[in-house]
Amino acid sequence: MERTKTEDKLIFSGVQPTGNLHLGNYLGAIRNWVDLQNNNNCIFCIVDLHAITTSENRTQILQNTREVAAAYIASGIDPQKNIIFVQSNVAGHSELSWLLSCHTPIGWLNRMTQFKDKAGKNKEKAPLGLYSYPVLMAADILLYKSTHVPVGEDQKQHLELSRDIAQAFNRYYNKEFFPVPEPVISGNATRLMSLKDGLKKMSKSDPSDQSRINLTDSADVIVKKIQKAKTDSDPFPLNHDQLTNRPEIKNLINIYSTMTDLSVDEIIKKFNEKDFKIFKNELSDVLVDKISKISVEMKKLLTDNIYLDSILKNGCEKAEKIANKNIRDLKSLIGFFGV
Ligand code: TYM
Repeated sequence: MERTKTEDKLIFSGVQPTGNLHLGNYLGAIRNWVDLQNNNNCIFCIVDLHAITTSENRTQILQNTREVAAAYIASGIDPQKNIIFVQSNVAGHSELSWLLSCHTPIGWLNRMTQFKDKAGKNKEKAPLGLYSYPVLMAADILLYKSTHVPVGEDQKQHLELSRDIAQAFNRYYNKEFFPVPEPVISGNATRLMSLKDGLKKMSKSDPSDQSRINLTDSADVIVKKIQKAKTDSDPFPLNHDQLTNRPEIKNLINIYSTMTDLSVDEIIKKFNEKDFKIFKNELSDVLVDKISKISVEMKKLLTDNIYLDSILKNGCEKAEKIANKNIRDLKSLIGFFGV
């Protein structure tokens, strides 16, 4: 990659191709990347090796991979300016994951809450890959010596682990080989909540499609989902304090705020004493305007696999170049034969 932008920063992030890409993925992550691409070198990955850690996501992986690629591009990520590629196409991710796993104490992994949530009660039967998932994520980031990682809040603990692993490795070899990556968790939408339950995260795996706005939803569907989104029987809040214990309202206001760049206070001022219906109608308009444009563009892109695949192949070549060099340097540092 030609380093024409801010030389000392390298942005890396990724999305799993598990279907049902939603507004949380867009506002919590992808939309922020669109701004970052202007002044930074960026690598955006489709993390298919992560997607196979749970059995329900192992089907339709090819279609879902193309869908994420289309979502990136439709959201405004420019494939000419950035590297867009598929994780399993660059062998260095798996290789580095092993090397890093030798520097990761099991105690660190035992603290990962996402594993506990996903494995549930049946920990003994959970796949090893689900347990070591955060090490693979550290490998994704460190393989490119990335410095900044823009993600939603749910990835914070994994990023802290990536930092710990980078530091442990550097300490062991007494060399600043890996930069210690900075999480970039910014904006009002770092944790969008379900439209049905304001205490639950908006998620691809929620069985209720009504709980989220999908990036593939049509205008009609978006309007219906917002109309049906859970609120309460109290009137629109008159001030910040009246948002306490009203997680669903807070979530809808946060969405509106992120989409319009109006502050929460400005929104309260604009809608107080008005009917909730008026707020919901405006929220729908704002969402339809933005999301259905993305949806239409995604659908168009998904009719042209030749174009999408050429972007991913091109991205793979560029990513591989950086990855191969870093893996070679790393093997040489470790002192392996034949490097
Ligand atoms: P994934 O695929 O679950 O989600 C992709 C991105 O969307 C963000 N996100 C949300 N943001 C706000 N509100 C929500 N409700 C919401 N749900 C999801 C996520 O925080 C994420 O930024 N482990 C990662 C993928 C990954 C990765 C990486 C990310 C693998 N390797 C290296 C960064 C760097 C994941 O499962 O994301």
